[in-house]
Amino acid sequence: MSVKETIAQLRASLEKYNYEYYVLDNPSIDDAEYDRLMQQLILLEKEHPEYYSSLSPSQRVGGLVQDKFKEVKHKRQMLSLANAFSDDDLRDFDKKVRDISGLKKITYVAEMKIDGLGISLVYQGALQYASTRGDGVVGEDVTTNVLTIKSVPSHLKIKEDLEVRGEVFMPKKSLAHLNRIKAEAGEPLFANARNAAAGSIRQLDSAIAATRGLDAYWYYFVNSSDFNIRFHSESLKMLDSLGFKTNPERRVCQGIEEVISYVKESTEKRHHLPYDIDGIVIKVDDMALYDKFGYTAKTPRWAIAYKFPPEVVTTKLKDIIFTVGRTGKITPNAVLDPVRVAGSVVQRATLHNEDFIAEKNLMIGDFVFIRKAGDVIPEIVKPVIEKRTGLEKPFVMITNCPVCTEPLKKIEAMHFCVNPFCPARQIESIFHFASRNAMDIEGLGERVAEQFFNQAFFKNIVDIYDLKNHREQIIALDGWQKK
Ligand code: IVH
Repeated sequence: MSVKETIAQLRASLEKYNYEYYVLDNPSIDDAEYDRLMQQLILLEKEHPEYYSSLSPSQRVGGLVQDKFKEVKHKRQMLSLANAFSDDDLRDFDKKVRDISGLKKITYVAEMKIDGLGISLVYQGALQYASTRGDGVVGEDVTTNVLTIKSVPSHLKIKEDLEVRGEVFMPKKSLAHLNRIKAEAGEPLFANARNAAAGSIRQLDSAIAATRGLDAYWYYFVNSSDFNIRFHSESLKMLDSLGFKTNPERRVCQGIEEVISYVKESTEKRHHLPYDIDGIVIKVDDMALYDKFGYTAKTPRWAIAYKFPPEVVTTKLKDIIFTVGRTGKITPNAVLDPVRVAGSVVQRATLHNEDFIAEKNLMIGDFVFIRKAGDVIPEIVKPVIEKRTGLEKPFVMITNCPVCTEPLKKIEAMHFCVNPFCPARQIESIFHFASRNAMDIEGLGERVAEQFFNQAFFKNIVDIYDLKNHREQIIALDGWQKK
């Protein structure tokens, strides 16, 4: 076999193994064997740069760094969906669909509305490009980043032109992991899965995108009529057989009442799914009817997105405590009776500043409504006034720093500790100095900064470089050892 043939064969095998592992979740070889084949391929490609291919399985760890994304004009406009917020909105939609089609009962396909980023894939046997929606007419070429998602096929078994659209998303686990790393580095967290997916796909360094644990589901076969497919449900099956990952959580429903039951079931189920959904998409199954329905400027009339209402719960505001930031800014924080909302337990929420608390008319001991902004960051909506007993205590803003007792200075709505030697400020600045966007000192997160400061291993940033003087004391601490 020639080198060229060996490379082609290795690539084909590795693609097949990617498909088995990432799409079917059913690998036929073990990791060691996969790594061995990959190493063999990488070596051959290095020795024979003339056979380089951007679609090779070896390129799927990223590496290309761009200074901007190329523009891509969509062959067909990438549409968005109209929204429904209640069962009655769904019944109105159904009525319009029945009126236009002249049919008594409509078959719908109900699918998860994944909170990610819409992406279009264009193939001619091999993947030509992957692009974002952009303004619907022109998007950005994000092929290299999308190829780091190993469930996305780089080649198909058919050579015909084909366009598929779907959603790239960040599974809950990946988002929690990424936000943990961001918190440790003192960086702002991603407020929701969509921002996280969009931020990752728009990374100019594809090696970073590759570390983000993204995945994708494909839900729309744009030119399925070229393959004589009449029903949307069938087109999804064809996508399956072509090697695309489609979401098995979907249902063909006879009539809108079946859709409404599915929506109810899904409202319960959503917190157990490994990815965030913000609603259910409902599509008319018979695509032969689509031309009759037509389109508004931005949305088709044959589909609608039911959006879940944000989940709101009540709990008790037990106390308000204060934290001191690096700049000395004092933040009041709500201490809550732990309560489950949108899939996780909440016991703290920021109250921003004195004015925020006054505007919301919050008292300590109040029952309060809690929700999660973008389903991630807990937020106090308002107190439950009817539940007041008269025993609630009014909130009084502190006048001195809770850590160093320095009198606070008020600037607009905010209070500051202006003592540059305040231990809380020192710890926060050491931690900030060590964070990823600054000196990127691995391991020196908020907890360690506080621990070392309290042990007097350092008092300020300069002392970080003399930590070696405390080697013995550090090793003596729990969780530390010699390296
Ligand atoms: S169909 C013309 N199906 O939701 C039909 N969209 O708010 C195009 N989305 O832009 C969309 N899950 O990015 C469709 N199962 C699903 C979806 C879905 C998520 C996104 C998509 C769309 C947005 C509309």
